[in-house]
Amino acid sequence: MKRTLGVCYYPEHWPEDIWADDAARMVKAGISWVRIGEFAWSRLEPSPEVFTFDWLDRAIDVLGGAGLKVILGTPTATPPRWMLDKHPDMLAVDEQGNPRGFGSRRHYCFSHRGYREESKRITRIFAERYGKNPHVAAWQTDNEYACHDTTRSYSYAATEGFQNWLAQKYQSTDALNSAWGNVFWSMEYDDFADVALPNLTVTEPNHPHLLDFYRYSSDMVVEFNREQVDVIRAHTDAPIIHNYMGRETSFDHFKVGADLDIASWDSYPIGFLSDRLDGTPDHKLRFLRQGDPDNQAFHHDIYRAVGRAGGNPSPAGGRWWVMEQQPGPVNWAPYNPAPLPGMARLWAWEAFAHGAETVCYFRWRQAPFAQEQMHAGLLRPDSADAPAMAECMQVAEEMAELPNVGTARADVALVFDYESAWGWEAQPQGADFNMFRLAFAAYRACRRLGLNVDILPPDTADLSAYKLTLAPGLMHLSATLRAALSQANALIGPRTDTKDENLSIPTPMGPNIAGLDTTVTLTESLPPQASVPLENGGQFLHWREHLEGDAPVQLRSTDGHPAIVGDTLRYLAGWPDDPTWDMILRALCDEHGIPHHTLPDGLRLRDTDTHRFVFNYAPEPLAWNGTEIAPAGVHWEPL
Ligand code: GAL
Repeated sequence: MKRTLGVCYYPEHWPEDIWADDAARMVKAGISWVRIGEFAWSRLEPSPEVFTFDWLDRAIDVLGGAGLKVILGTPTATPPRWMLDKHPDMLAVDEQGNPRGFGSRRHYCFSHRGYREESKRITRIFAERYGKNPHVAAWQTDNEYACHDTTRSYSYAATEGFQNWLAQKYQSTDALNSAWGNVFWSMEYDDFADVALPNLTVTEPNHPHLLDFYRYSSDMVVEFNREQVDVIRAHTDAPIIHNYMGRETSFDHFKVGADLDIASWDSYPIGFLSDRLDGTPDHKLRFLRQGDPDNQAFHHDIYRAVGRAGGNPSPAGGRWWVMEQQPGPVNWAPYNPAPLPGMARLWAWEAFAHGAETVCYFRWRQAPFAQEQMHAGLLRPDSADAPAMAECMQVAEEMAELPNVGTARADVALVFDYESAWGWEAQPQGADFNMFRLAFAAYRACRRLGLNVDILPPDTADLSAYKLTLAPGLMHLSATLRAALSQANALIGPRTDTKDENLSIPTPMGPNIAGLDTTVTLTESLPPQASVPLENGGQFLHWREHLEGDAPVQLRSTDGHPAIVGDTLRYLAGWPDDPTWDMILRALCDEHGIPHHTLPDGLRLRDTDTHRFVFNYAPEPLAWNGTEIAPAGVHWEPL
């Protein structure tokens, strides 16, 4: 497949007489896609039912006429001010009960029926007008669902919606009371209309109450997206995409992805390192201008899986893009350093090596006004080239030499489950237990060994293509995955299959997988300064479990408790620190014949079906097989 570059552009921000020059410069830079429209509502419908689409018609003509393919975004992330006069109660409400005000973006509540109609209405107007436009070659729904903590809203509309959702799910309040264990503190209901949202309670709300609210909130995102997709599909055959975020687990991306053709995500490596990733101060300093060496890859792999949920023939994953790629300093993280020269190229190549079809830089020209005026683009505000422009052009030239990088299937699979993320958010049991952290720790260890990883959804039914499957922290297993794991070489745990779907402790206690005779009988969480030493010299941090059963013990803690048990399917009874993850995985790779490496800190590999790519995220040169790779350098060799 031919890989392509794109850019995000806002014609409404610039005088019309520079559009043609912008378009010509994009083409000259080797860019083939341009995403527009996703925040332009106030300029398209300045007051209710008064439309001014003529400028967007001309913008699409100019861009398309220059040879660019347009990705058209629906503008629903930014309802204009008049919308509040029409629907005063459409604002999302925060957990403290305060409405989230107008004056930025994403202020709508997913549950608000009136706003949902507005979303369908404006989407229909877009789709009718541009569905057959030859220049509009892809669509984007809304923009970054969940961004700015917007999945969960504690509004009146959400309360009503949640009550109806519960009534449908449980059919009777007796069933709900029993599923939630409401007898516990006399929390029983006899009318669904009495069930409030799980905020503003005196002490912690009941965990299944939280979990069901998180499920409901995720379902609202799925429904909102599906409503737009249905409208767009009726008018076009072009692929429909959404741009997801980094480290975002508040809705089920696999379910949203099932309605879309292509998954995409917005990659801001330096911003994420500073504002949402774990890492010691030394790690964050070392990778200050490069981003975490595994964060981009993790998201490439998870969104490849989300793309596959949309139904894709490729065995190793689905269609996916990077819809927004950081080109220089961003404006929104606590600290915003500039990338090392070369990183805007490296990030693009790393995405292609993981199977991305397209990488779009965000944004074309830095805006001299409003919230993101300090956010770099490919052009400076004065239209001169910004540093990333030369790197974008270099990638375009290199792609012409190496157009085909097919996705290879990995030896190792990692199962990721959004519901488990909500379950552990509802009931962390220890301050440091978090699903993303746990999965990412396992993933990072794979990457330190130079492994390709496929991320899989929790309903996976067949693991036979993988030499090793990791399934940490899955609260409850689907029947299909339970059966697949019982046949697999796998390492599951900590916490895997220890709860039922209501977040209660099952009887018999878990895990309950055929062929693995072990039971978690007791759980401990630990403060950061405490650890559980293991007999192999490693240690558990944050979390350890006590096991009982006849499964063979593979590793013990020095106080005599089993730490890993099982035969082909194994259970890990704690949270290994990084060196311990490395020891455990290296041993499993050796056992299952998985080739692996010991990579220097910052050097990362990714194999496609034809090439091995080597990326140097370190600030110093590093050697790979005798080749010196400069900081921010990319090297590839045929396999
Ligand atoms: C993304 C968003 C863009 C822009 C960008 C800035 O989260 O989708 O609209 O705000 O961040 O980095």
